[in-house]
Amino acid sequence: MLRGGHKDGDFVGNAASGTATIATALREASGRLAAGSETPRLDAEVLLRHVLGVDRTGLFLRLPKPLATADRAAFDGLVAARLDGAPVAYLTGEREFMGLPFRVRPGVLVPRPETEVLVEWALARLRARPGARVLDVGTGSGAIALSLAAHAPAGWGGRAIGGDASAAALAIAAENRARLGMADRVALVRGDLASWCRGPLDLLLANLPYLRPEQVAANPALAAEPAAALLGGADGLDLIRRLVADAPRVLAPGGAIGLEIDPSQAEAVVGLVVAALPEAEVAVLRDLAGLARHVVAEGTRRDALQSESGDTVPRA
Ligand SMILES: C[S@@+](CC[C@H](N)C(=O)[O-])C[C@H]1O[C@@H](n2cnc3c(N)ncnc32)[C@H](O)[C@@H]1O
Repeated sequence: MLRGGHKDGDFVGNAASGTATIATALREASGRLAAGSETPRLDAEVLLRHVLGVDRTGLFLRLPKPLATADRAAFDGLVAARLDGAPVAYLTGEREFMGLPFRVRPGVLVPRPETEVLVEWALARLRARPGARVLDVGTGSGAIALSLAAHAPAGWGGRAIGGDASAAALAIAAENRARLGMADRVALVRGDLASWCRGPLDLLLANLPYLRPEQVAANPALAAEPAAALLGGADGLDLIRRLVADAPRVLAPGGAIGLEIDPSQAEAVVGLVVAALPEAEVAVLRDLAGLARHVVAEGTRRDALQSESGDTVPRA
């Protein structure tokens, strides 16, 4: 259905002969999308760029030109699907995350910009801890594990694992891993949370499903994404609660944990983390909208506890 870019000679018709220009098609589509999208102009631009196979500059340069009939049909189809509730990223098959192109399709959550805050925090931990071993629980498209590995400091030398319970998500993560050339740095594992992992991990990251059923029901924009990537039980914390309880088992001495949350859960999740990792320093990170979006904790002190029992030599 979707076509690549065109040379000027490929366009049929022109404004004078009645064929709409690209600018007109864009304006009309933005108007239609306003009925179902909070970002109608942006959606229209991204979808039209996808049809034409051009970047943003290319689109603007073509605004006065006529839109070819086949491209018009393809564009109209995508606009209709968007109005039916399909996320733009499912329609184009791609979403940028941490400056990298991630393939997405139904069956996997579309990575969100707020999750980049967690990756930036994790990158700072990697800089402080060469050789760090990382687990991204609920990796989905692989957004966290793969972007972390791709942007890791030169001397990192560690490994990341992306784990997920969903085979469909892991298949997409594997495609993204191959596309980004990360096969030697990132392993993918199917399993429940971190239950299959013996550790020790220096960094445990998770953007797990954390929404309550009524939050999902009230937001039609979420309808196309997998329920298993969104729903976290009655209070949204079923999965986070289980993972945090397991964190002391898998975290290395001095390790760190970073969890994405719903802003309403900040206090509860801080409480869970403090209870599970009483020696760690806990903080709440805000997203670009200023909302409490991540609970992070570092400096777990299993080293002190374990060295007392003689099991583990503390890290320098
Ligand atoms: C909110 S999505 C996050 C995807 C990705 N990390 C991101 O930030 O874009 C949550 C992911 O957790 C996975 N998941 C749900 N329950 C799980 C479980 N019990 N164990 C492991 N992964 C699980 C889902 O399949 C989904 O891919």
